[in-house]
Amino acid sequence: MSIGLDDVIAAQTILSHVDGERGRLILRGFDLDALAGIEAFEAVAARLWAGFGPTEYTGASLATALGEARGVAFERLQPLLRVAGALTPVEGLRLLLSSLSDAAPIPPAVLVTAAVPVFVAALARAVTGRRPLPPDPALGQAADFLRMLRGVPASDAHVRALDTYLVTVIDHGLNASTFTARVIASTRAGMISSVVGGLCALKGPLHGGAPGPVLDMLDAIGTPENIEPWLEARIRAGERLMGFGHRIYRVRDPRADVLKRVAASLAGTADGNRIRFAESVEAAALRLLARAKPGHRLDTNVEFFTALVLEALDLPRAIFTSVFALGRVAGWAAHVMEQEREGRIIRPQSAYVGPWPKAAA
Ligand code: ACO
Repeated sequence: MSIGLDDVIAAQTILSHVDGERGRLILRGFDLDALAGIEAFEAVAARLWAGFGPTEYTGASLATALGEARGVAFERLQPLLRVAGALTPVEGLRLLLSSLSDAAPIPPAVLVTAAVPVFVAALARAVTGRRPLPPDPALGQAADFLRMLRGVPASDAHVRALDTYLVTVIDHGLNASTFTARVIASTRAGMISSVVGGLCALKGPLHGGAPGPVLDMLDAIGTPENIEPWLEARIRAGERLMGFGHRIYRVRDPRADVLKRVAASLAGTADGNRIRFAESVEAAALRLLARAKPGHRLDTNVEFFTALVLEALDLPRAIFTSVFALGRVAGWAAHVMEQEREGRIIRPQSAYVGPWPKAAA
């Protein structure tokens, strides 16, 4: 029995491999470093989906298909936006994605991937009473998301930074949300239900909900003098420091390094002091965690620098988890298609530790 399924291998995949000892992430035969910041999100999604769907895409043809599908998703918005807009952004996204159908005339992987930026931008605007903006099918996912959110075209630097982030988080082995999506797919419930399940798992603070709290932590610490006492008090109280620790990585999460570079590249447009302050917090947290949990090898995870990149892009904290889904949705879709091809229902067993019926007298 393995509570938490540590060390259990529950699926075979050609999509991604997480090497926790060497701090390496391989995406369909490529190291993360060979893709992030080099290939566009659509090109990497096309690589992940190759061989699974009814259509083979290149980066360019997938960008076109996603552009058209964003228009379809936009039409779905109006009837539900009032209800979805009253929820938290990630709950609103859950509701809107649930309204999509596997029976739509476009492949469900394309529809659901295209829908996420349309819905997230509309929900973020709804918070401040602004109407949703229709997508521009000529743009890539990153550029169109920023434009739909802000109402003006984003700079090349911002588009590049967000696009690099989307590639960095696109897939990551059998993490909790991907596993959830695969379990649902294994029952043949379909793409949309599987992706909605993935989003539900991503929402939790131990998975994709961490970056907002990372910024809350930086704000609460406030000054360089307060770093050590603040962190020490939290660790002593048994709290988890957001942005640190990982089930698989025993060394630094390679995605943290990619995103640290992205955050530094934005330092000109954002607050360089914030990034330097965060680096001091990171260094102190690693020192204190090593001392407090000597057997555990806790290091920086993807969420720490995600927080800084998304903040430098001036995105509202409340949508950080949903923005994670903008990238990860393509990975979920790939895993769903792979699982559907595998065809075996995922059905582990549990160890019963409850009471047994009394023996008949
Ligand atoms: N801060 C302080 N202590 C920690 C942290 C942390 N961030 N992470 C783990 N620990 C401690 C645990 O309290 C535990 O200590 P104990 O044995 O004295 O009780 C020990 O290290 C081992 O922890 P586990 O719970 O076994 O680690 P697990 O592999 O289950 O959890 C997880 C991994 C959930 C990511 C955890 O490290 C955590 O909660 N981190 C903070 C939240 C976070 O940053 N999440 C984002 C992860 S990346 C992603 O999902 C995209």
